[in-house]
Amino acid sequence: MEPIQVGLLGIGTVGSGTFQVLARNQEEIRRRAGRGIEITMVADLDVERARALVGDRSKVVADAREVIANPAIDIVVELIGGYGIARQLVLEAIAAGKHVVTANKALLAVHGSEIFAAARDKGVMVAFEAAVAGGIPIIKALREGLTANQIEWIAGIINGTTNFILSEMRDKGLDFADALSEAKRLGYAEADPTFDIEGIDAAHKITLMSAIAFGIPVQFSKAHVEGITSLQSVDIHYAEQLGYRIKLLGITRRLSTGIELRVHPTLVPAKRLIANVEGAMNAVMVQADAVGTTLYYGKGAGSEPTASAVIADLVDITRLHTADPCSRVPHLAFQPDELHATVVLPISEVVTAFYLRLQVADEKGVLADITRILADVDISIDAVLQRESEEGENKTDLIILTHQTPEGKMRAALAKMQSLSTVLAPIVSIRKEELA
Ligand code: NDP
Ligand code: HSE
Repeated sequence: MEPIQVGLLGIGTVGSGTFQVLARNQEEIRRRAGRGIEITMVADLDVERARALVGDRSKVVADAREVIANPAIDIVVELIGGYGIARQLVLEAIAAGKHVVTANKALLAVHGSEIFAAARDKGVMVAFEAAVAGGIPIIKALREGLTANQIEWIAGIINGTTNFILSEMRDKGLDFADALSEAKRLGYAEADPTFDIEGIDAAHKITLMSAIAFGIPVQFSKAHVEGITSLQSVDIHYAEQLGYRIKLLGITRRLSTGIELRVHPTLVPAKRLIANVEGAMNAVMVQADAVGTTLYYGKGAGSEPTASAVIADLVDITRLHTADPCSRVPHLAFQPDELHATVVLPISEVVTAFYLRLQVADEKGVLADITRILADVDISIDAVLQRESEEGENKTDLIILTHQTPEGKMRAALAKMQSLSTVLAPIVSIRKEELA
């Protein structure tokens, strides 16, 4: 059989890895897919660099629309990124009857409903394994491997850049800016790294996993998102003294009242496997009723790890593109007319435990005032640590771990504690999850 023909839009970090891995492993990939898979056209703004990468093995053009217009191309791989031109090109490729593979979580988390609907209308596939956790086949696991289960929650380290930064800060004492520069140099960071450090990239990914796990539409705008930019080394160290590590987690959980969808720095017990995931590695924990807890670990970013997922999608499409569209795995795991409009809970209704750090005057009665405020809103204390503050005499750091409480109550208590004259600096609060 003739090889299936692929057009690649964007040959940067992931595009070049895709080209190289496909060339290197083409024979084994052909034996698995049942026919060859060839990238016969590449579009990139930097035509000279693209030519240098692909040699004479593919036709290189500057205009991505030339690829889409080529009737010989069966699959378009979008590796440009962002919501702008990428959205237009993906929709045009679908309209032209091409299957699409993309690693673009931003695009799918925001415009997924529109894109999947367009693909259904045209009877084509949109595959996106690389969009979540890079090389880890988590989309396949959630959509197919765990299909027997009622998924209860997912918690993941799903941004390599921020996990790399947190590891470098904790282990090597690097400052935030230096660690971020290194992540950029290694090709982990997004074109706009604020997406990484402000938690937006992780929120794109948890939004996609939430939709697949619970059979709801993709709704990034409902996610609660906090990044790591205001995290301080002192809290990383105090957390360690209490037996915890701080990780940027994406969490989604199904409750009888609705669905939690959130990204924020989180204290996790140091003894959990996921707390020991370092550098740019990703890990996703899934709790489901039949199988129990499963954990998926691997490289969440970088050229070839992400290419591994892109090519897996190419093989899937090669195997399935002649199948009746109704027999294919639905984009979001559930049949499109079976998606439920379950409410996404506001963060004030989310229940977690908390780590609090208060810089207080070293006077009698201060701890009593604070514990009374917490007790007044029914928040119970799990542990208290008192440490000399680095910021001068007559000041002390109070570190409090609480039991679980709705966030709304915690916010009310924080406002009251902050107004005490003995509380000398903004209170730091970080959510804590046992992930048991
Ligand atoms: P890069 O910036 O390295 O590559 C994007 C490429 O697209 C560049 O070569 C760029 O050219 C080219 N490009 C930009 N606009 C156009 C256009 N209009 N037509 C054709 N080519 C264009 O990005 P990455 O490879 O890192 O990321 C690609 C996608 O993969 C993104 O959606 C990203 O979120 C996702 N992803 C990335 C991972 C990673 O580890 N890097 C991991 C998982 C997903 P030029 O440089 O000249 O502008
Ligand atoms: N910028 C992303 C990360 C790339 O750091 O995880 C992988 O999606």
